[in-house]
Order: sequence, then C-alpha cells, then structure tokens
Amino acid sequence: TCSWLKNRFTLYKHEDVWNSKDFLEGKLLAQQRFKADPSDIFLCSFPKTGTTWLKALVFAIITREKFNESTSPLLNTLPHDCILFLEKDLEKIEENRKNSFFPPINTHIHYHSLPKSIITSNCKIVYIYRNMKDVLVSYYHFARQIVKLQIEDAPFEEAFDEFCKGILNFGPYWDHILGYWKASLEKPEIFLFMKYEDMKKYPTTNVKKLAEFIGHPFTIEEEKAGVIENIIKLCSFENLSNLEVNKSGNHQAGKTQVIENRLFFRKAEDEEWKNYFTEEMIEKIDKLIDEKLGATGLVLK
Ligand code: A3P
Repeated sequence: TCSWLKNRFTLYKHEDVWNSKDFLEGKLLAQQRFKADPSDIFLCSFPKTGTTWLKALVFAIITREKFNESTSPLLNTLPHDCILFLEKDLEKIEENRKNSFFPPINTHIHYHSLPKSIITSNCKIVYIYRNMKDVLVSYYHFARQIVKLQIEDAPFEEAFDEFCKGILNFGPYWDHILGYWKASLEKPEIFLFMKYEDMKKYPTTNVKKLAEFIGHPFTIEEEKAGVIENIIKLCSFENLSNLEVNKSGNHQAGKTQVIENRLFFRKAEDEEWKNYFTEEMIEKIDKLIDEKLGATGLVLK
C-alpha cells in the first residue's frame, strides 16, 4: 500500500510495473484476449502526461467531417468516453470493431507488456510524454483526491520519495518512456512522439503532424477555413474544463473505481513543479532523469 496515501491505495508489481488491481487485471485480460489488426492505432501514455487532451484532439480530428465545434460529442462527453481504454474497455473495443468507425485505442500499458499482436502487427503508436516533475505534481493531486485526502494530510515529500522509487500506478515512469523509446529506434516509422509542452507551444504544427500520422491529414481548403484552429480551441483546457460534463460528471475508470471528471482537468500549467520541489529534490530527480533517460535525448527536466 502507498504510505503517503495513508494506505488507502494498493499496488501490485507484475512484469516490473506497479498497478492497482483493476489495471493489472485489465492488462492481463488484454494480453490474453486482444487481437490487434495492422490498421489499429494506439495512443500510448503514462498517466498525467496529457492523455485526456490527446484523446480529445484525436477524436476531434477523426470526426471533423461529421461534427464541428458546436456539434461535437466532446461538448457533452468526457474524452475518455470518446476514445476507449484497452485495460478497461476490451469488450466495447471488440464490439466497435464491427462498426465502420473504429477510433484509435488508448493504453497506459508498458511497451514490453503490450498484447503481442500489437507489436507483431506493427500498429502505429502515438506516444505522448511530459516533463517528469510536472507529471509528479499532477499525479500527486490526482491520486490524493481519488482517495479523498486533503493536501495537509498528504505530504508531497513522501509522494516524491515513492515516485523516485517508481512506486505509483503504472510506475516507474522512466521505464514506460524507455520501453517505447527503444522500440521506436527499431521501427521509427510506426511511432510519433509528442511532447505535452511542445503541443502547447506549437499547437498548429503538432495537430497537423498528429492528423497526418493517424491517416486524417487536413486538406488545404480545411487549413484555409480554419479547421485546425477550431479543433485546437474545442480541445483546449479552457474550453473542456468549463463544460458542464467535465465539471460535474463521473467516469467509471476501472471495474471498481469511479473518478470525478473534473479531476482530469486541474491546472494544465507548465513548470508548476517549481512551487513544490526543494533544491534537494530537484537535484535528486534530475540525477535520476540523467541516469535513466539521458541516452534518449528526450528533454524531461
Ligand atoms: P495538471 O494536473 O498539471 O493540471 P492525463 O490526461 O494524462 O491524466 O493528464 C492530466 C493533465 O493534463 C492534468 O495536468 C490536466 O490538467 C491536463 N489537461 C487536461 N486536459 C487538458 C487540455 N485540454 N489541454 C492541456 N492540458 C490538459
């Protein structure tokens, strides 16, 4: 159990990854049952790296001929209910395969634990990642709110220590990145790496790249008509976090876990970690990042 969460959250280690019971069972079931098709596309992410945003963007991109910014299902559906999650929605995903509209699938599973057919089918993979310190701050608030702990009862230093030991749902974060990064060296053509901070800084370039990669490129006419900008606005934190559904709805996140939708939309600020980390923590985590991920060339500090 996680001591900083007052033992209200239990994790299990399997295949060198920590998971809650729901997600471990979901992974095992996916490994047993899921049969990928070479045309399937996966949105792979570590929790709190911008999954919700990526899902919204992908959904808006692939449904743009049917819906616009005032009719999109995103206006009254949590992005997690628009793009399904392999560890939880296996049956629905299999059911959807019969439809002509089969959207990309999201997963938090580490590369080495993915159902084998995803790898042998050479499915395309979009991988989103984010500065490690902000992921920790984001996870800190998410996890403590899920188990209903106030800030004063959930010491950040303890959360930091467990994070640095890799003990958090889907942890360690560095192994998650490493697995996908190493695989991308062997098959670069099936990977698109997207960085949360870059997506914020250069949204148009990134949304264009994303649309092309998932096989829904924008036409020149669409670009001229401002379709990309409309999608960016629709999926922006400001817009999504103020929708009624995302302020008051609930999400069945696992077999036993219900999460308030609003917890997926917190602050979306860059470098918020500066308000949380002591000099000593910065030194420790930067060293860890260098040791574990220095070779990747990915900027995570
Ligand atoms: P913060 O906790 O730093 O605010 P995930 O979706 O992988 O769980 O990641 C959640 C993080 O993404 C949260 O970060 C959340 O606020 C932020 N986020 C949610 N929707 C977003 C959006 N549309 N644009 C940018 N960031 C978003």
